Amino acid sequence: MNSFVSNQTLLGAHALITGATGGIGQAIARVFHAHGAHVHLSGRRTDVLQSLKDELGQRCDIWPMDLSDRDSVNSVIEQIKQEKIPLNILINNGGTNKNSLAPRIKDQDWDEVIQTNLTAPFLLCRGLFPVLKEATLGDQQGYARIINISSVVAFTGNGGQSNYVAAKSGLTGLTKALALEWASRSITVNAIAPGFIETPMTAGLDLQEWIRKIPKKRVGTPEEIAFAALFLADARAGYITGQTIHVNGGLCMV
Ligand SMILES: NC(=O)c1ccc[n+]([C@@H]2O[C@H](COP(=O)([O-])OP(=O)(O)OC[C@H]3O[C@@H](n4cnc5c(N)ncnc54)[C@H](OP(=O)(O)O)[C@@H]3O)[C@@H](O)[C@H]2O)c1
Repeated sequence: MNSFVSNQTLLGAHALITGATGGIGQAIARVFHAHGAHVHLSGRRTDVLQSLKDELGQRCDIWPMDLSDRDSVNSVIEQIKQEKIPLNILINNGGTNKNSLAPRIKDQDWDEVIQTNLTAPFLLCRGLFPVLKEATLGDQQGYARIINISSVVAFTGNGGQSNYVAAKSGLTGLTKALALEWASRSITVNAIAPGFIETPMTAGLDLQEWIRKIPKKRVGTPEEIAFAALFLADARAGYITGQTIHVNGGLCMV
């Protein structure tokens, strides 16, 4: 069927989505699944992963993983390789913050935020590179996508989040470096930088203060991030690489 008239634009695709128990990750999983993809859901909370799997039914598997633990990440990479899962989309969405003014950030909180938001995405990109490369071979239509979920604060900075801002800025740099390395392999590497999105991560913030500064005068929805991811994941987005799509209601124009 002509993919221009079908909404099954991800039919045959296999997408690993980290942070699939969270607000944005669940939205990406639902949207990708609705567009025909086989979704591989990852997070720490297995009960939440299982209930999303129950909701989605077929074309869904779960891969519990702790992004702050190298062994856990490496063991999932090995399992995916052993089981020959034909992944062609990797969405590094899982993330965490441990906010504090810089002088008060504990070593442990610095390490956890960098490991979860930056080192784990690198380990997944590096470890799954052979799997993604495989997806691009053999068939003229083959392609692979890496989509990293960064943040508006990687571009604006934010006081009280130096660990998180450093990690997300690093993720933007990683996106560009891998895009250059892998452009000739039909693997595109892009990022999405959400502004303020209504999820558990922002539940404790005074959003009203931010809404006054956002030109759209509202926070974003997880589905608005999922739509940007769907666009980047599409086979027709093959000429876009090394880029960041900003989804922030006009808060920051880069
Ligand atoms: N919401 C926003 O306004 C906003 C803005 C900019 C960027 N972002 C980014 O968007 C992404 C998704 O965030 P969200 O808003 O959807 O937040 P969320 O609802 O809090 O979800 C965070 C996700 O990350 C996972 N996660 C956290 N630490 C983990 C660990 N050590 N190992 C494995 N998974 C871990 C959580 O899974 P478990 O709890 O199951 O482990 C959860 O699925 C994050 O990278 C975040 O930094 C969000």
